Amino acid sequence: MYYLKALDLRDKKVLLRMDLDLPENQDGFDTTRLEYGLPTLQYLLKRGVAEVKVIGHRGRPGGKTVRKLKLAPIIDLIKERIDEKYHSKLVFEENLRFAPGEEKNLKTFAKKLAKGYDIYVNEAFATAHREHASIVTLPTLLPTVMGRQFEKEMKVLRQILYAPKRPLTLILGGAKEEKLEYLDKLFEHFNVFLVGGKLAQGRKDMEETNRKLIVGDLTEDGLDLNQDTIEQFDRFIKASETVIWNGPVGKYEDPAHQAGTEAIANSVARSKVFSYVCGGDTEAAITHFGLEHKMFNHISTGGGAVMSYLVDGTLPGLQAIEASQQSFDWDKLLEFVI
Ligand code: 3PG
Repeated sequence: MYYLKALDLRDKKVLLRMDLDLPENQDGFDTTRLEYGLPTLQYLLKRGVAEVKVIGHRGRPGGKTVRKLKLAPIIDLIKERIDEKYHSKLVFEENLRFAPGEEKNLKTFAKKLAKGYDIYVNEAFATAHREHASIVTLPTLLPTVMGRQFEKEMKVLRQILYAPKRPLTLILGGAKEEKLEYLDKLFEHFNVFLVGGKLAQGRKDMEETNRKLIVGDLTEDGLDLNQDTIEQFDRFIKASETVIWNGPVGKYEDPAHQAGTEAIANSVARSKVFSYVCGGDTEAAITHFGLEHKMFNHISTGGGAVMSYLVDGTLPGLQAIEASQQSFDWDKLLEFVI
């Protein structure tokens, strides 16, 4: 595998895909994904590139321009964090998902993005499970490497897939119902599954078909875990060696329904487990409760991408990078070290 640090970047025009889909709650944007991706952008600028064009998506606009999903406020956040002397080298593209070609994975769209660029750096780990043009087709058109956060993500994930400390527990919450599909597929790999949040609503019967599964009991309005379940989940967390937490277990943005998510966040942060937090909204929740990132062993920028990797042992975005590394004349791109 060729890594970013091996490349001679001087005077190159680089296309950089970042995770710009920042969760938003009453506190504003949760900038974790941005902060984790910025070192790659800063590295490129310091290594003398001629230009970096930042590309990324926000939300699910479905191939149409949606005003509230424009990237402008996120571009401002990036610019605030980059030394002004580099601003003239920075170029931005509007939300990729405004173009139908992104999610339809059209080669014509990928070609338009690639035109005029020398190297592609994919720093969008959170989207690596999607077969979209910028994820799987761009790497066929430009020599592609992972960004530094993407590299880190792969290192930790390999450990969790191939040599996790057990018992290994998965806490699944949040609103994306597609996550439930992972439960059966990950049955063998995990020792316990704890389900909360919207996913648990009306799904108690799932326990009958999966003996490792505990579907949390909810408060009367269904918007949080009830106290017995909070305590039960806490006991399971403390009895685990590794906990993967993906998704808030209640409507934590609302003070009346934050007890479950706050308790789980504290339990995961303070127990002596290897704690792995994933999914944009989970990161936003721990920030909301004032927990520092360093209280967790790993905070992943991905959610679905993590689950998908654990199921398949690879990701479309990763495979695309691997294939790209077989396809171009890489000798010309590597830094010559005497
Ligand atoms: C995410 O938010 O997990 C990633 O950005 C992927 O978003 P998607 O589920 O809309 O593809």
